[in-house]
Amino acid sequence: MLIRPATDSDLALLPEIEVAAGEAFRALGMDAVADDAPPTVEELAAYQVDGRAWVAVDAADRPVGYALALEVDGGAHLEQVTVHPAAAGHRIGSALIDEVDRWAAGHGLAWLTLTTFVDVPWNAPYYDRLGFRAMAAETLPAGLRSIREHERAHGLDAWPRVTMRRAVGGTG
Ligand SMILES: CC(C)(COP(=O)(O)OP(=O)(O)OC[C@H]1O[C@@H](n2cnc3c(N)ncnc32)[C@H](O)[C@@H]1OP(=O)(O)O)[C@@H](O)C(=O)NCCC(=O)NCCS
Repeated sequence: MLIRPATDSDLALLPEIEVAAGEAFRALGMDAVADDAPPTVEELAAYQVDGRAWVAVDAADRPVGYALALEVDGGAHLEQVTVHPAAAGHRIGSALIDEVDRWAAGHGLAWLTLTTFVDVPWNAPYYDRLGFRAMAAETLPAGLRSIREHERAHGLDAWPRVTMRRAVGGTG
């Protein structure tokens, strides 16, 4: 499995990965998450042109997973990490996160951060195994607090959510 920066011709393939991965939320009764619109190609392009989008590709160089990052509060915020269910379980998610870690290190950023669902087995418990730790809501700096407020307004807090972080270049 190769991970490389996303090219503009990759972008049209990413929404379908998001839709396929989202289906898993239906089994937990989280249909609204499964039905949430995937990012548009225009939204993805804002990350890609800036070198903040990466894809994991198969032997035919076709994306099977992707990650998006942005700088928030002096850290690298993982806006999205998604692996197509047909390719899941091969540490591709973890490898994508490590790629974002390298980008963060190259940009002098101290932390990787993300927001996720507490009780979804492949969300917070998974990130915990990768060395991410919960941040107390009242300690969140302004940028992360604003992301959480946006999520709440979007209805995501119908299920418990948490902000997590891991030191760049480390595992906790
Ligand atoms: C989360 C995700 C990126 C992981 O990608 P991946 O390449 O399969 O990840 P890995 O192979 O590194 O690890 C998979 C881990 O998730 C666990 N997992 C995956 N699907 C699971 C499920 N349905 N139920 C329970 N655990 C599950 C595996 O047991 C494994 O755990 P381990 O760390 O103990 O081995 C991928 O499952 C995904 O895209 N999910 C849907 C989108 C999503 O929730 N994104 C993150 C939040 S925005």
